[in-house]
Amino acid sequence: MTRPILGIETTCDETSAAVLDAHGAILGLVIHSQDVHRVYGGVVPELAARDHLRRIEPVVEAALGEAGVRRGDLGAIAVAAAPGLIGALLVGVTWSRAAAFALAIPLVPVHHMEGHLFGPVLEDPDAVPPFVALLVSGGHTLLLWVPEWGRYHLLGETRDDAAGEAFDKVARILGLTYPGGPAIERAAAEGDAARYRFPRPLLGRKGGAGSGRGARAGLFDFSFSGLKTAVARTVADVESPARLEAERPHLAASFQEAVVDVLAGKTLAAARAMGCERVLVGGGVAANRALKARLLGAVGPGGRLFAASPRLSMDNGAMIARAGMYRLQRGDFGGLAEASARAPIPGVVRR
Ligand code: KG4
Ligand code: ZN
Repeated sequence: MTRPILGIETTCDETSAAVLDAHGAILGLVIHSQDVHRVYGGVVPELAARDHLRRIEPVVEAALGEAGVRRGDLGAIAVAAAPGLIGALLVGVTWSRAAAFALAIPLVPVHHMEGHLFGPVLEDPDAVPPFVALLVSGGHTLLLWVPEWGRYHLLGETRDDAAGEAFDKVARILGLTYPGGPAIERAAAEGDAARYRFPRPLLGRKGGAGSGRGARAGLFDFSFSGLKTAVARTVADVESPARLEAERPHLAASFQEAVVDVLAGKTLAAARAMGCERVLVGGGVAANRALKARLLGAVGPGGRLFAASPRLSMDNGAMIARAGMYRLQRGDFGGLAEASARAPIPGVVRR
């Protein structure tokens, strides 16, 4: 394909559109982060869907304008069709179906997490398999072994909360704003990460053994709800609002340190197990500087860390367009894209 591709992302609370040229370079990218949810401390699905509906047309127009591309010049439309909030997904998928039909061009459904996997590729042509991928977002925590594009061996996933979800919930407990990740990272910058010793769930375990909550968890599985509860208990013990104010940076830093220990520890153990020191990190939590610094420091001189810049780590249409290009080249599309709230990444197998 030699014509530009349009990518559409509406799985959660970002309405985004991007135009890439035939080589995968970003010609235009617009991300509208919905602020209607802020007062609720989390995403309200109904409000998300309505806001996507209001924004999708102007967001696409702005992306095309930035790219200097007319609708008639487009060669294909890629849309994030799963997983996510169903009402939000339906807006992007329905809009894209109608547009592709009207323009008589292919419509390529993309799995949102495969989109995150392609995020780093937008800025670094070396970001190609083989690598171990840590995908950390508001809804997912996945550790994958990727020997080649399209073959995804699931090494581990979360047993309860996703990593981003843990940041969001702990932010709420600490009285910080949504989204919690950036708020915790900012607060943590002023804090002492050694002040509180929070648990590192499922870290350093042998896998499969033991009893209780983590009994059936594999070596590379994650669990964050106990960590969240530990922070909540500690906060409940803080005697006064003034004291909490003073302790907040230390609580944020200590929590972040625990999450980074777990995410980086498991990712590096997986890289060692696969005999491959190439690591890719994607998803909103990949914007976290402490996480990236830890991974970078640990991959070793012979290894590589692939991570997108924060704008391309969060939900965006460019990663969807890039993953769509890959699926299009493989001839792996066709039929009508169906929106689906839950779906495995195409090509995933459990090791
Ligand atoms: O991938 P994403 O933009 O949306 C989903 O697919 O869910 O990820 C959003 C998640 C939120 O939970 C947010 O708190 C988290 O990513 N996040 C961060 C940071 N920036 C965003 N977590 C930790 N540190 C950050 N700097
Ligand atoms: Zn995402």
